[in-house]
Amino acid sequence: MAAHVEEREIQKNYWIEHSAELTVEAMMLDSKASVLDKEERPEVLSLLPSYEGKSVLELGAGIGRFTGKLAQKAGQLVAVDFIESVIKKNESINGHYKNVKFMCTDMTSPDLTFSEGSVDLIFSNWLLMYLSDNEVENLAKRMVKWLKIDIKRKYNPTRYREPRFYTKICWIWQKVRSQDDKGFQQFLDNVQYESNGILLYERVFGQGYVSTGGIETTKEFVAKLDLKPGQKVLDVGCGIGGGDFYMAENFGVEVVGIDLSINMILFALECATGLKCTVKFEVADCTKKTYPDNTFDVIYSRDTILYIQDKPALFRSFFKWLKPGGKVLISYYCKSAGSPSPEFAEYIKQRGYDLHYVEAYGQMLRDAGFDDVIAEDRTDQFNQVLQRELNAVEKGKDEFIQDFSELRLSLICFDLIYLIYSKLELIICTLFLFIVYNQEDYNVIVGGWKAKLIRSSSGEQRWGLFIAKKN
Ligand SMILES: C[S@@+](CC[C@H](N)C(=O)[O-])C[C@H]1O[C@@H](n2cnc3c(N)ncnc32)[C@H](O)[C@@H]1O
Repeated sequence: MAAHVEEREIQKNYWIEHSAELTVEAMMLDSKASVLDKEERPEVLSLLPSYEGKSVLELGAGIGRFTGKLAQKAGQLVAVDFIESVIKKNESINGHYKNVKFMCTDMTSPDLTFSEGSVDLIFSNWLLMYLSDNEVENLAKRMVKWLKIDIKRKYNPTRYREPRFYTKICWIWQKVRSQDDKGFQQFLDNVQYESNGILLYERVFGQGYVSTGGIETTKEFVAKLDLKPGQKVLDVGCGIGGGDFYMAENFGVEVVGIDLSINMILFALECATGLKCTVKFEVADCTKKTYPDNTFDVIYSRDTILYIQDKPALFRSFFKWLKPGGKVLISYYCKSAGSPSPEFAEYIKQRGYDLHYVEAYGQMLRDAGFDDVIAEDRTDQFNQVLQRELNAVEKGKDEFIQDFSELRLSLICFDLIYLIYSKLELIICTLFLFIVYNQEDYNVIVGGWKAKLIRSSSGEQRWGLFIAKKN
Protein backbone atom coordinates (compact mmCIF):
# COMPACT_ATOMS: atom_id res chain seq x y z
CA MET A 1 0.00 0.00 0.00
CA ALA A 2 1.37 3.46 -0.86
CA ALA A 3 2.72 5.29 2.20
CA HIS A 4 0.21 8.13 1.88
CA VAL A 5 -2.81 5.82 1.65
CA GLU A 6 -1.58 3.79 4.61
CA GLU A 7 -0.98 6.94 6.67
CA ARG A 8 -4.52 8.17 5.89
CA GLU A 9 -6.02 4.86 6.89
CA ILE A 10 -4.13 4.83 10.19
CA GLN A 11 -5.16 8.39 11.00
CA LYS A 12 -8.77 7.87 10.00
CA ASN A 13 -9.11 4.69 12.07
CA TYR A 14 -7.50 6.42 15.02
CA TRP A 15 -9.99 9.27 14.88
CA ILE A 16 -13.00 7.03 14.27
CA GLU A 17 -12.00 5.20 17.45
CA HIS A 18 -11.67 8.49 19.37
CA SER A 19 -14.86 10.04 18.06
CA ALA A 20 -17.23 7.49 19.53
CA GLU A 21 -18.22 10.18 22.02
CA LEU A 22 -18.63 13.52 20.34
CA THR A 23 -17.28 15.57 23.24
CA VAL A 24 -14.53 18.13 23.78
CA GLU A 25 -12.75 15.53 25.92
CA ALA A 26 -12.67 13.05 23.01
CA MET A 27 -11.57 15.73 20.52
CA MET A 28 -8.71 16.91 22.73
CA LEU A 29 -7.85 13.38 23.90
CA ASP A 30 -7.81 14.67 27.46
CA SER A 31 -10.18 13.94 30.31
CA LYS A 32 -9.72 17.51 31.62
CA ALA A 33 -10.30 19.09 28.22
CA SER A 34 -12.95 21.58 29.34
CA VAL A 35 -10.51 23.11 31.84
CA LEU A 36 -7.82 23.32 29.14
CA ASP A 37 -10.30 24.66 26.61
CA LYS A 38 -11.26 27.59 28.83
CA GLU A 39 -7.65 28.77 28.84
CA GLU A 40 -6.58 27.74 25.37
CA ARG A 41 -9.44 28.93 23.18
CA PRO A 42 -9.38 32.67 24.04
CA GLU A 43 -5.58 32.67 23.80
CA VAL A 44 -5.55 31.06 20.35
CA LEU A 45 -8.32 33.36 19.08
CA SER A 46 -6.45 36.41 20.37
CA LEU A 47 -3.49 35.47 18.19
CA LEU A 48 -5.46 35.52 14.93
CA PRO A 49 -5.14 38.42 12.52
CA SER A 50 -8.35 40.35 11.82
CA TYR A 51 -10.82 38.24 9.82
CA GLU A 52 -13.94 40.36 10.15
CA GLY A 53 -16.06 39.94 7.00
CA LYS A 54 -13.37 37.80 5.39
CA SER A 55 -13.32 34.36 3.89
CA VAL A 56 -11.97 31.81 6.35
CA LEU A 57 -11.12 28.13 5.93
CA GLU A 58 -11.01 25.99 9.08
CA LEU A 59 -9.16 22.71 8.67
CA GLY A 60 -9.73 19.91 11.15
CA ALA A 61 -12.75 21.77 12.57
CA GLY A 62 -13.81 18.86 14.81
CA ILE A 63 -17.08 19.32 16.66
CA GLY A 64 -16.63 23.08 16.43
CA ARG A 65 -14.61 24.35 19.38
CA PHE A 66 -13.57 27.28 17.17
CA THR A 67 -16.18 27.14 14.38
CA GLY A 68 -18.88 29.13 16.19
CA LYS A 69 -16.45 31.84 17.28
CA LEU A 70 -14.98 32.14 13.77
CA ALA A 71 -18.46 32.24 12.23
CA GLN A 72 -19.47 35.21 14.40
CA LYS A 73 -16.94 37.47 12.64
CA ALA A 74 -16.07 35.83 9.33
CA GLY A 75 -17.78 36.75 6.06
CA GLN A 76 -17.86 33.13 4.96
CA LEU A 77 -16.40 30.12 6.70
CA VAL A 78 -15.72 26.63 5.38
CA ALA A 79 -15.31 24.10 8.19
CA VAL A 80 -13.62 20.86 7.12
CA ASP A 81 -13.20 17.58 8.97
CA PHE A 82 -12.61 14.04 7.71
CA ILE A 83 -14.88 12.20 10.18
CA GLU A 84 -18.52 12.36 9.16
CA SER A 85 -20.08 12.06 12.62
CA VAL A 86 -17.78 14.81 13.86
CA ILE A 87 -18.56 17.38 11.18
CA LYS A 88 -22.28 16.52 11.49
CA LYS A 89 -22.09 17.27 15.22
CA ASN A 90 -20.36 20.54 14.38
CA GLU A 91 -23.18 21.36 11.98
CA SER A 92 -25.79 20.53 14.61
CA ILE A 93 -24.14 23.00 17.00
CA ASN A 94 -23.18 25.75 14.54
CA GLY A 95 -25.48 25.19 11.58
CA HIS A 96 -27.54 28.24 12.58
CA TYR A 97 -24.66 30.41 11.34
CA LYS A 98 -25.73 30.78 7.74
CA ASN A 99 -22.26 31.86 6.59
CA VAL A 100 -20.75 28.44 7.38
CA LYS A 101 -20.36 25.57 4.93
CA PHE A 102 -19.57 22.18 6.52
CA MET A 103 -17.50 19.71 4.50
CA CYS A 104 -16.52 16.14 5.21
CA THR A 105 -13.19 15.68 3.42
CA ASP A 106 -9.67 14.67 4.26
CA MET A 107 -7.65 17.86 4.00
CA THR A 108 -4.86 15.96 2.22
CA SER A 109 -7.28 14.84 -0.49
CA PRO A 110 -7.01 16.51 -3.90
CA ASP A 111 -10.83 16.72 -3.79
CA LEU A 112 -10.48 19.54 -1.30
CA THR A 113 -9.79 22.47 -3.52
CA PHE A 114 -10.44 26.20 -3.62
CA SER A 115 -9.82 28.67 -6.37
CA GLU A 116 -6.46 30.37 -6.35
CA GLY A 117 -6.35 33.50 -4.19
CA SER A 118 -9.86 33.02 -2.79
CA VAL A 119 -9.22 32.59 0.96
CA ASP A 120 -8.18 35.32 3.44
CA LEU A 121 -7.34 33.14 6.44
CA ILE A 122 -6.69 29.44 6.93
CA PHE A 123 -6.99 28.28 10.52
CA SER A 124 -6.16 24.98 12.16
CA ASN A 125 -5.42 24.02 15.73
CA TRP A 126 -3.79 20.81 17.00
CA LEU A 127 -3.85 19.36 13.53
CA LEU A 128 -0.51 19.17 11.74
CA MET A 129 0.75 16.44 14.07
CA TYR A 130 -1.74 14.12 12.39
CA LEU A 131 -0.07 14.56 9.01
CA SER A 132 3.19 13.05 7.82
CA ASP A 133 6.05 15.38 6.86
CA ASN A 134 5.20 14.92 3.17
CA GLU A 135 1.56 15.67 3.75
CA VAL A 136 2.37 18.87 5.65
CA GLU A 137 4.65 19.95 2.83
CA ASN A 138 2.00 19.30 0.16
CA LEU A 139 -0.75 20.94 2.17
CA ALA A 140 1.44 24.02 2.74
CA LYS A 141 1.92 24.35 -1.04
CA ARG A 142 -1.83 24.08 -1.68
CA MET A 143 -2.66 26.53 1.10
CA VAL A 144 -0.30 29.13 -0.36
CA LYS A 145 -2.21 28.83 -3.66
CA TRP A 146 -5.63 29.24 -2.03
CA LEU A 147 -4.65 32.31 -0.06
CA LYS A 148 -5.13 35.88 -1.33
CA ILE A 149 -2.24 38.26 -1.63
CA ASP A 150 -2.86 41.56 0.07
CA ILE A 151 -2.48 43.95 -2.86
CA LYS A 152 -4.69 46.76 -1.63
CA ARG A 153 -1.79 48.95 -0.60
CA LYS A 154 1.05 49.75 -2.92
CA TYR A 155 2.75 51.91 -0.34
CA ASN A 156 2.44 51.75 3.42
CA PRO A 157 4.84 53.73 5.61
CA THR A 158 3.54 52.26 8.90
CA ARG A 159 6.20 50.55 10.99
CA TYR A 160 4.19 47.72 12.49
CA ARG A 161 5.91 46.12 15.45
CA GLU A 162 5.06 42.87 17.10
CA PRO A 163 5.05 42.61 20.89
CA ARG A 164 8.24 40.59 20.36
CA PHE A 165 9.68 43.83 19.04
CA TYR A 166 12.86 43.63 17.03
CA THR A 167 13.26 39.91 17.61
CA LYS A 168 12.60 37.89 14.50
CA ILE A 169 11.62 34.29 14.92
CA CYS A 170 11.92 32.41 11.69
CA TRP A 171 11.03 28.73 11.56
CA ILE A 172 12.91 26.79 8.94
CA TRP A 173 11.38 23.40 8.19
CA GLN A 174 13.94 20.88 7.14
CA LYS A 175 13.26 17.39 5.91
CA VAL A 176 15.65 15.00 7.68
CA ARG A 177 16.16 11.29 7.24
CA SER A 178 13.85 9.38 9.54
CA GLN A 179 16.65 6.93 10.38
CA ASP A 180 18.73 9.76 11.94
CA ASP A 181 19.57 8.84 15.52
CA LYS A 182 17.20 10.77 17.75
CA GLY A 183 18.17 8.75 20.82
CA PHE A 184 20.68 11.20 22.23
CA GLN A 185 18.46 14.16 21.52
CA GLN A 186 15.65 12.41 23.37
CA PHE A 187 18.01 11.71 26.26
CA LEU A 188 18.86 15.42 26.42
CA ASP A 189 15.24 16.59 26.22
CA ASN A 190 13.64 13.92 28.38
CA VAL A 191 16.33 13.16 30.95
CA GLN A 192 19.27 15.54 31.27
CA TYR A 193 17.53 18.75 30.19
CA GLU A 194 13.80 18.24 30.62
CA SER A 195 12.14 21.64 31.07
CA ASN A 196 12.02 21.70 34.86
CA GLY A 197 15.65 20.50 34.95
CA ILE A 198 16.72 23.47 32.81
CA LEU A 199 14.95 25.87 35.18
CA LEU A 200 16.67 24.24 38.14
CA TYR A 201 20.11 24.54 36.52
CA GLU A 202 19.40 28.12 35.48
CA ARG A 203 18.50 28.89 39.08
CA VAL A 204 21.97 27.76 40.15
CA PHE A 205 24.06 29.10 37.23
CA GLY A 206 22.15 32.35 36.80
CA GLN A 207 19.71 33.74 34.27
CA GLY A 208 20.44 32.49 30.75
CA TYR A 209 23.09 29.97 31.75
CA VAL A 210 23.41 26.24 32.26
CA SER A 211 27.14 26.00 32.70
CA THR A 212 29.84 26.62 35.27
CA GLY A 213 30.07 30.16 36.59
CA GLY A 214 27.28 31.67 34.47
CA ILE A 215 27.85 35.32 33.62
CA GLU A 216 31.06 35.58 35.69
CA THR A 217 33.10 33.01 33.74
CA THR A 218 31.41 34.20 30.53
CA LYS A 219 32.69 37.75 31.05
CA GLU A 220 36.17 36.50 31.87
CA PHE A 221 36.43 34.12 28.90
CA VAL A 222 34.74 36.36 26.31
CA ALA A 223 37.21 39.15 27.20
CA LYS A 224 39.94 36.89 25.79
CA LEU A 225 38.35 36.88 22.33
CA ASP A 226 38.87 40.54 21.40
CA LEU A 227 35.43 40.62 19.72
CA LYS A 228 34.74 43.36 17.18
CA PRO A 229 31.31 44.65 16.01
CA GLY A 230 29.99 42.74 13.00
CA GLN A 231 32.07 39.61 13.64
CA LYS A 232 30.31 36.26 13.28
CA VAL A 233 30.31 33.95 16.29
CA LEU A 234 29.13 30.33 16.40
CA ASP A 235 28.15 29.04 19.86
CA VAL A 236 28.18 25.24 19.86
CA GLY A 237 25.81 23.84 22.49
CA CYS A 238 24.41 27.30 23.23
CA GLY A 239 21.93 26.07 25.84
CA ILE A 240 19.43 28.81 26.72
CA GLY A 241 21.59 31.48 25.13
CA GLY A 242 22.85 33.65 28.02
CA GLY A 243 26.40 33.81 26.63
CA ASP A 244 25.09 34.64 23.16
CA PHE A 245 22.97 37.56 24.36
CA TYR A 246 25.93 38.81 26.37
CA MET A 247 28.27 38.76 23.33
CA ALA A 248 25.73 40.25 20.94
CA GLU A 249 24.59 43.01 23.29
CA ASN A 250 28.01 44.04 24.55
CA PHE A 251 30.21 43.58 21.48
CA GLY A 252 27.81 44.01 18.54
CA VAL A 253 28.70 40.60 17.11
CA GLU A 254 26.29 38.39 15.15
CA VAL A 255 25.82 35.15 17.01
CA VAL A 256 24.48 31.82 15.77
CA GLY A 257 23.65 29.47 18.66
CA ILE A 258 23.12 25.79 17.91
CA ASP A 259 21.98 23.13 20.35
CA LEU A 260 20.77 19.58 19.95
CA SER A 261 18.19 19.99 22.70
CA ILE A 262 14.82 21.29 21.52
CA ASN A 263 13.97 22.38 25.07
CA MET A 264 17.10 24.51 25.27
CA ILE A 265 16.37 26.28 21.99
CA LEU A 266 12.75 26.90 22.99
CA PHE A 267 13.92 28.58 26.20
CA ALA A 268 16.56 30.55 24.26
CA LEU A 269 13.93 31.85 21.83
CA GLU A 270 11.73 32.87 24.70
CA CYS A 271 14.61 34.73 26.36
CA ALA A 272 15.31 36.51 23.05
CA THR A 273 11.93 38.24 23.23
CA GLY A 274 12.39 41.97 23.19
CA LEU A 275 16.19 41.97 23.14
CA LYS A 276 17.80 44.37 20.70
CA CYS A 277 20.59 42.19 19.38
CA THR A 278 21.27 39.78 16.54
CA VAL A 279 21.20 36.18 17.74
CA LYS A 280 19.95 33.25 15.69
CA PHE A 281 19.19 29.90 17.27
CA GLU A 282 18.91 26.53 15.65
CA VAL A 283 18.24 23.00 16.85
CA ALA A 284 21.20 21.18 15.34
CA ASP A 285 23.69 18.45 16.12
CA CYS A 286 27.16 19.98 15.87
CA THR A 287 28.57 16.63 14.70
CA LYS A 288 26.21 16.62 11.69
CA LYS A 289 25.89 20.33 10.95
CA THR A 290 27.97 21.78 8.13
CA TYR A 291 28.97 25.36 7.33
CA PRO A 292 30.91 26.69 4.38
CA ASP A 293 34.66 27.03 4.98
CA ASN A 294 35.79 30.37 6.49
CA THR A 295 32.36 31.36 7.87
CA PHE A 296 33.03 32.41 11.46
CA ASP A 297 35.44 34.74 13.26
CA VAL A 298 34.95 32.90 16.55
CA ILE A 299 33.69 29.47 17.61
CA TYR A 300 32.67 29.43 21.25
CA SER A 301 31.55 26.40 23.21
CA ARG A 302 30.92 26.11 26.92
CA ASP A 303 30.72 22.75 28.70
CA THR A 304 29.27 20.95 25.67
CA ILE A 305 32.06 19.08 23.93
CA LEU A 306 32.16 16.60 26.80
CA TYR A 307 29.17 15.00 25.01
CA ILE A 308 31.03 14.58 21.73
CA GLN A 309 32.58 11.16 21.10
CA ASP A 310 34.70 12.02 18.04
CA LYS A 311 36.30 15.27 19.20
CA PRO A 312 39.19 15.26 16.65
CA ALA A 313 36.62 15.23 13.78
CA LEU A 314 34.67 18.11 15.36
CA PHE A 315 37.85 20.15 15.88
CA ARG A 316 38.75 19.62 12.21
CA SER A 317 35.31 21.00 11.27
CA PHE A 318 35.82 23.98 13.59
CA PHE A 319 39.14 24.66 11.87
CA LYS A 320 37.47 24.66 8.45
CA TRP A 321 34.49 26.78 9.52
CA LEU A 322 36.76 29.48 11.00
CA LYS A 323 38.12 32.31 8.90
CA PRO A 324 41.91 32.68 8.83
CA GLY A 325 42.80 34.56 12.02
CA GLY A 326 39.68 33.12 13.70
CA LYS A 327 39.69 31.81 17.27
CA VAL A 328 38.10 28.94 19.10
CA LEU A 329 37.32 29.08 22.83
CA ILE A 330 36.10 26.00 24.62
CA SER A 331 35.51 25.07 28.26
CA TYR A 332 34.61 21.60 29.46
CA TYR A 333 34.96 18.86 32.01
CA CYS A 334 38.14 16.79 31.91
CA LYS A 335 39.52 13.99 34.04
CA SER A 336 42.84 13.19 35.67
CA ALA A 337 45.19 10.47 34.43
CA GLY A 338 44.37 6.90 35.49
CA SER A 339 41.07 5.07 35.67
CA PRO A 340 38.12 6.90 37.19
CA SER A 341 36.63 5.72 40.50
CA PRO A 342 33.50 3.53 40.08
CA GLU A 343 31.32 6.46 41.18
CA PHE A 344 32.90 8.84 38.66
CA ALA A 345 32.78 6.16 35.94
CA GLU A 346 29.04 5.70 36.61
CA TYR A 347 28.47 9.47 36.45
CA ILE A 348 30.34 9.69 33.11
CA LYS A 349 28.31 6.80 31.73
CA GLN A 350 24.93 8.11 32.96
CA ARG A 351 25.57 11.54 31.43
CA GLY A 352 26.91 10.16 28.13
CA TYR A 353 30.21 12.07 28.56
CA ASP A 354 33.54 11.31 26.91
CA LEU A 355 36.30 12.84 29.06
CA HIS A 356 40.08 13.12 28.60
CA TYR A 357 43.02 14.87 30.28
CA VAL A 358 43.51 18.59 29.80
CA GLU A 359 46.76 18.11 27.83
CA ALA A 360 45.12 15.57 25.50
CA TYR A 361 42.61 18.17 24.33
CA GLY A 362 45.38 20.69 23.64
CA GLN A 363 47.04 18.10 21.40
CA MET A 364 43.74 17.33 19.61
CA LEU A 365 43.42 21.03 18.72
CA ARG A 366 47.00 21.13 17.41
CA ASP A 367 46.36 17.96 15.37
CA ALA A 368 43.30 19.64 13.83
CA GLY A 369 45.57 22.41 12.52
CA PHE A 370 45.24 25.07 15.24
CA ASP A 371 48.15 27.26 16.40
CA ASP A 372 48.80 29.25 19.57
CA VAL A 373 46.96 26.58 21.55
CA ILE A 374 46.33 27.39 25.21
CA ALA A 375 45.17 24.45 27.35
CA GLU A 376 44.62 25.54 30.94
CA ASP A 377 43.61 23.40 33.89
CA ARG A 378 40.95 25.50 35.63
CA THR A 379 40.02 22.96 38.31
CA ASP A 380 40.77 25.35 41.20
CA GLN A 381 38.44 27.93 39.73
CA PHE A 382 35.85 25.15 39.14
CA ASN A 383 36.03 24.23 42.86
CA GLN A 384 35.56 27.82 43.97
CA VAL A 385 32.64 28.39 41.60
CA LEU A 386 30.94 25.13 42.65
CA GLN A 387 31.30 26.03 46.33
CA ARG A 388 29.86 29.49 45.73
CA GLU A 389 26.94 28.09 43.74
CA LEU A 390 26.24 25.48 46.43
CA ASN A 391 26.41 28.09 49.23
CA ALA A 392 23.93 30.31 47.38
CA VAL A 393 21.45 27.45 46.88
CA GLU A 394 21.71 26.35 50.53
CA LYS A 395 21.35 29.91 51.79
CA GLY A 396 18.22 30.41 49.70
CA LYS A 397 16.78 26.97 50.49
CA ASP A 398 13.31 28.13 51.52
CA GLU A 399 12.92 30.45 48.57
CA PHE A 400 14.25 27.75 46.21
CA ILE A 401 11.71 25.23 47.47
CA GLN A 402 8.93 27.79 47.44
CA ASP A 403 9.66 28.88 43.85
CA PHE A 404 9.77 25.35 42.53
CA SER A 405 6.72 24.46 44.63
CA GLU A 406 4.75 27.07 42.76
CA LEU A 407 5.82 25.43 39.53
CA ARG A 408 4.67 22.03 40.71
CA LEU A 409 1.43 23.49 42.02
CA SER A 410 0.50 24.79 38.60
CA LEU A 411 1.18 21.36 37.14
CA ILE A 412 -1.02 19.48 39.55
CA CYS A 413 -3.91 21.89 39.99
CA PHE A 414 -5.86 20.13 37.23
CA ASP A 415 -5.52 16.91 39.18
CA LEU A 416 -6.83 18.58 42.29
CA ILE A 417 -9.85 20.08 40.57
CA TYR A 418 -10.59 16.73 39.02
CA LEU A 419 -10.22 14.85 42.28
CA ILE A 420 -12.44 17.27 44.17
CA TYR A 421 -15.25 16.26 41.86
CA SER A 422 -14.48 12.57 41.89
CA LYS A 423 -12.75 10.85 44.80
CA LEU A 424 -12.40 13.35 47.60
CA GLU A 425 -10.26 11.11 49.74
CA LEU A 426 -7.46 11.11 47.16
CA ILE A 427 -6.72 14.82 47.60
CA ILE A 428 -4.60 14.15 50.68
CA CYS A 429 -2.43 11.65 48.77
CA THR A 430 -1.84 14.12 45.96
CA LEU A 431 -0.82 16.90 48.31
CA PHE A 432 1.58 14.58 50.08
CA LEU A 433 3.29 13.61 46.83
CA PHE A 434 3.53 17.23 45.95
CA ILE A 435 5.52 18.13 49.09
CA VAL A 436 7.95 15.23 48.67
CA TYR A 437 8.56 16.22 45.05
CA ASN A 438 9.59 19.76 45.97
CA GLN A 439 12.21 18.62 48.41
CA GLU A 440 13.45 16.31 45.70
CA ASP A 441 14.35 19.12 43.27
CA TYR A 442 16.36 20.85 45.99
CA ASN A 443 18.01 17.61 47.10
CA VAL A 444 18.98 16.67 43.54
CA ILE A 445 20.76 19.99 43.04
CA VAL A 446 22.49 20.07 46.43
CA GLY A 447 23.45 16.38 46.21
CA GLY A 448 24.75 16.80 42.66
CA TRP A 449 26.86 19.83 43.56
CA LYS A 450 28.31 18.13 46.67
CA ALA A 451 29.24 15.07 44.60
CA LYS A 452 30.90 17.27 41.96
CA LEU A 453 32.82 19.08 44.71
CA ILE A 454 34.09 15.82 46.17
CA ARG A 455 35.27 14.64 42.75
CA SER A 456 36.86 17.94 41.77
CA SER A 457 38.50 18.53 45.19
CA SER A 458 40.13 15.11 44.95
CA GLY A 459 41.38 16.16 41.49
CA GLU A 460 39.55 13.35 39.73
CA GLN A 461 37.08 15.56 37.86
CA ARG A 462 38.81 18.52 36.22
CA TRP A 463 37.76 21.57 34.23
CA GLY A 464 39.71 22.92 31.27
CA LEU A 465 39.80 26.12 29.24
CA PHE A 466 41.10 25.91 25.67
CA ILE A 467 41.83 28.74 23.28
CA ALA A 468 43.40 28.32 19.86
CA LYS A 469 43.86 30.24 16.62
CA LYS A 470 43.60 29.43 12.91
CA ASN A 471 46.56 31.25 11.35
C1 LIG B 1 26.06 22.16 30.01
S1 LIG B 1 25.05 22.70 28.70
C2 LIG B 1 25.84 24.23 28.31
C3 LIG B 1 24.93 25.22 27.61
C4 LIG B 1 25.56 26.58 27.31
N1 LIG B 1 26.77 26.45 26.55
C5 LIG B 1 25.85 27.36 28.56
O1 LIG B 1 27.01 27.63 28.83
O2 LIG B 1 24.91 27.73 29.25
C6 LIG B 1 25.57 21.65 27.35
C7 LIG B 1 24.71 21.81 26.10
O3 LIG B 1 25.25 21.00 25.04
C8 LIG B 1 24.16 20.57 24.20
N2 LIG B 1 24.62 19.48 23.32
C9 LIG B 1 25.00 18.24 23.67
N3 LIG B 1 25.37 17.52 22.57
C10 LIG B 1 25.23 18.34 21.51
C11 LIG B 1 25.44 18.19 20.09
N4 LIG B 1 25.87 17.05 19.57
N5 LIG B 1 25.21 19.25 19.28
C12 LIG B 1 24.75 20.43 19.80
N6 LIG B 1 24.52 20.62 21.12
C13 LIG B 1 24.75 19.59 21.97
C14 LIG B 1 23.13 20.19 25.26
O4 LIG B 1 21.82 20.10 24.74
C15 LIG B 1 23.28 21.36 26.26
O5 LIG B 1 22.43 22.43 25.96
